[in-house]
Amino acid sequence: MNTAHSLDNTRMSVVLDKHEKGAAAALVHLLQDVQSEFNYLPKDAIIAVADHLNVPLCKAYSVATFYKTFSLTPRGETIVKVCMGTSCHIRGASVVVEDLKAGLGIAPGETTEDMKYTVEVVNCVGACALAPVVIADDKYIPNVKPGAVMKRLEDI
Ligand code: FES
Repeated sequence: MNTAHSLDNTRMSVVLDKHEKGAAAALVHLLQDVQSEFNYLPKDAIIAVADHLNVPLCKAYSVATFYKTFSLTPRGETIVKVCMGTSCHIRGASVVVEDLKAGLGIAPGETTEDMKYTVEVVNCVGACALAPVVIADDKYIPNVKPGAVMKRLEDI
């Protein structure tokens, strides 16, 4: 995995400018915006956020590491989330994970070499009637049949 990313300061400035300087209460929101922009929280971005909001760096790090939705490691352009809640599990979510392993060559928690995809498993996403469910770039892919996930991914 490539971890040698330097921060794009122009993109970072656009994100920071959405939040008032010194507005410490915006910490989680700003970190979410950074993650939306970069798909993870680069180290330099966390430092910039702490500086912008005038919060201690250790506080920014503790929030960034507390929430499971934040990632401190680079992730792919498309985050593929496979629901492993009970309904999805019963209806074949494990097969979907195996299909993704075969199609992308990565296991949950990993990112493809070309940085296009990261696969994650998540708990129930509240769409059990559509099980098994995959979410790619916040788009729900319902009723994923065995062998179909790669084609469904390409279609979105
Ligand atoms: S268990 Fe997957 S959406 Fe509920």
